[in-house]
Amino acid sequence: VVSGHAAPPKSSTARRLTTSRSISLGTYEVLVAPGALSSIGEIVAETAPAHRYTIITDEHVGPLYAERVAAALGADRTRVYTIPAGESRKTREQWATLTDAMLADGFGRDGAVVALGGGVVGDLAGFVAATFMRGIPVVQVPTTLLAMIDASVGGKTGVDTPAGKNLVGAFHHPSAVVADPNVLSTLPREQVRAGLAEALKHGVIADEAHFDQVLSEGPALLGGSVDDSIVDLVANSVEIKADVVRRDEREGGLRKTLNFGHTLGHAIEALSGYSLLHGEAVAIGMVLESEIAERAGVASAGTAARVRAAVERLTLPHRKPADQSAEQILAATRSDKKARAGAVEYALPSRIGAMAGSDTSFGIRVPDDLVREVLR
Ligand SMILES: NC(=O)c1ccc[n+]([C@@H]2O[C@H](COP(=O)([O-])OP(=O)(O)OC[C@H]3O[C@@H](n4cnc5c(N)ncnc54)[C@H](O)[C@@H]3O)[C@@H](O)[C@H]2O)c1
Ligand SMILES: [Zn+2]
Repeated sequence: VVSGHAAPPKSSTARRLTTSRSISLGTYEVLVAPGALSSIGEIVAETAPAHRYTIITDEHVGPLYAERVAAALGADRTRVYTIPAGESRKTREQWATLTDAMLADGFGRDGAVVALGGGVVGDLAGFVAATFMRGIPVVQVPTTLLAMIDASVGGKTGVDTPAGKNLVGAFHHPSAVVADPNVLSTLPREQVRAGLAEALKHGVIADEAHFDQVLSEGPALLGGSVDDSIVDLVANSVEIKADVVRRDEREGGLRKTLNFGHTLGHAIEALSGYSLLHGEAVAIGMVLESEIAERAGVASAGTAARVRAAVERLTLPHRKPADQSAEQILAATRSDKKARAGAVEYALPSRIGAMAGSDTSFGIRVPDDLVREVLR
């Protein structure tokens, strides 16, 4: 491993290999290994043995990587389904199209799904696997930074509905997660940037050294350079999410800390008509919410300034869009499904590397006027 000044969290069960790392989530492992795509056959055979495989991918990722993965799985027993790219395709209709196609192709209970793509493919293919024949195995092969460090870890699958994002779904743990950082070399820069926002979030909520690592290595990654140092960045981020998920699988308390930057971030993302990428909106949300944390006396002085400087350094947006008013954003936070009984709760840091709250409650109610002040 090239660089790795970020110490894994104490409860980590990660093993360090030379240039790859594996993080255990109890029933499955997340493997972060350059070149893993070509050797995926062994991992899948071991963790999700099946007679036939369904690779679900999208129109951008498929042409680049599906053939390689199919060859590793055995082309003769593998079928590739390619869906149009984009959040607008994470729907029940697409779920129906895929499951109909699998049924028409004679897939049965002895099959398994390989989700090859970003979070959209991961969530959709995961939901297909969760429901097909009442559940068949899925191996997640995330190809965006966001999917590697966030979407593929934790077992949440699902689709969007006209009433909102991710409203219909299921918990369905993958049999394995295989992240090959080499694929990040083809990922559009704005998508890399959006993923870095979530990596930064992991640093704020749990690990200051990780925060610094994202800051020091992010710019090179944005410049298109993918080397082995990315293994540690991805793996450390996975460990932070994994640690939270392990301790709080169904969002009782601790998992709420992952929501830092997301209360305002979701509101701003939705108000932008989803023209902002999720990670971009979260970046703005983190800047604003750390400001709230400081003004509310929850975070130590200087926390907000560091978050803002980091967001700017990664060339992420740090200000609310000019066409969104404080009142609009405030109203939108109330329709967030994570707002309980009309009260708007925030997950706030106490400093870089730690969240305010206790094991049973990380939701902090913030008076509307304080939010208004920060939004102004
Ligand atoms: N299940 C969870 O816990 C969880 C957590 C966070 C986010 N999500 C979901 O993840 C989704 C967002 O995922 P995302 O940011 O990965 O977006 P995405 O899946 O839309 O991928 C972004 C874009 O990058 C392209 N792409 C992906 N990998 C590529 C590669 N290696 N090279 C070139 N192009 C590539 C895709 O085709 C797409 O156009 C949202 O639907 C969100 O709800 C789920
Ligand atoms: Zn997020």
